[in-house]
Amino acid sequence: MSGGDIADSMLFVKNNEIGRNNMLSVKIEKELNKQLNREYFSAYLYMSMAAYFQSIDLSGFERWMQVQAKEELSHAEKIYNFIHERNGKVVLEAIEKPQTDWESPLAAFEDSLKHEIFITGCINELIKSALEEKDNATDIFLQWFVTEQVEEEANATKVIKKIKLMKAAPGGIFMLDKELAERE
Ligand code: FEO
Repeated sequence: MSGGDIADSMLFVKNNEIGRNNMLSVKIEKELNKQLNREYFSAYLYMSMAAYFQSIDLSGFERWMQVQAKEELSHAEKIYNFIHERNGKVVLEAIEKPQTDWESPLAAFEDSLKHEIFITGCINELIKSALEEKDNATDIFLQWFVTEQVEEEANATKVIKKIKLMKAAPGGIFMLDKELAERE
């Protein structure tokens, strides 16, 4: 082996060790990939709700859901990048078909809150696994999602309360539609 070959192989071993040190466990990698899929599904679900609102001419509600779907894509991107930063492999699975119709705007928002509560539970389970695996980096990474989920549930709850309040007022839903159109 030449001096150059030895240097190359030492560099390879070194890089490999660095990779291993920072590497996700098989279990956490799998669970993060599952959460990645859930975030893409969330985007899909909210786009489906946006399309439902479009079909009943509530363009402000539609806009709100489109913005929400974009947020979900940004959540997915965070996980995608984190898996790679930790020398893991992103594996994209099929995205489940979302529901396409709801019986009312209230029913759609109640489903969105239900979905967010489910996602909060998944994040909490992931944190539990990270702690079991002594994976502090994943635990710290997921703390951002804990805070985000508080906001996600609060946002859906706020709209549900407004829909219920405005139900009695004539034209209330159109006033709310105007308000929701302003979401950025
Ligand atoms: Fe990405 Fe709405 O949770």
